[in-house]
Amino acid sequence: TRTFSIIKPDATRRNLTGAVTKMLEEAGLRVVASKRIQMTREQAEGFYAVHKERPFFGELVDFMISGPVVVQVLEGEDAVKRNRDVMGATNPADADEGTIRKTYAESIEANSVHGSDSDENAKIEIEFFFNEDEIVGCSSRRTMTGLVAAMRRGLVVSRLRRSGRSAIDARDAPRCSIVRIRARSRPVRRGAVRSPARHRCG
Ligand code: CMP
Repeated sequence: TRTFSIIKPDATRRNLTGAVTKMLEEAGLRVVASKRIQMTREQAEGFYAVHKERPFFGELVDFMISGPVVVQVLEGEDAVKRNRDVMGATNPADADEGTIRKTYAESIEANSVHGSDSDENAKIEIEFFFNEDEIVGCSSRRTMTGLVAAMRRGLVVSRLRRSGRSAIDARDAPRCSIVRIRARSRPVRRGAVRSPARHRCG
């Protein structure tokens, strides 16, 4: 399943984008979409509309537009809960050891990360910031576009050449890989077509 995450301005200001993302990945989540943006006031107000009546709403919006944020779509088993577990409690003072907020958050407002609280809100929040074609996950059918683009750039062809094969069968391209392709003529030398880890899911 998927969830939505924001690395908040207090974290981007301290150059913690990578450190936070590492904790998300180590918790079994995969970043399947990510972009660094400066939110507009309208965006922040719209995103946090459910908190409109709260006394902290104004400050929350001011904080969220005080610097860049990184919005992400995370994929993994039971992604909403998995993310909430690794984030820790809203208030870092209440967060468990080893959580992102315990490790990095400065205060209940500057609490480094946001994460969706339900599958339903995850869907709404993802759609607030991302178009479907910006999300490239293991279950994305659009990764075939990546294969075609890679073929055009000669990536696949050069791999074929190096691995001594002459043809690929696009239907064999796994959903998350642009390079794991079947040999049709000569046998593939073991290891020769191993794609770099970054191309593979699992
Ligand atoms: P987040 O998960 O982004 O959802 C709403 C945010 O409001 C929450 O994290 C906190 O950062 C912020 N928030 C919640 N309670 C307070 C509070 N009492 N004072 C300031 N900010 C708060």
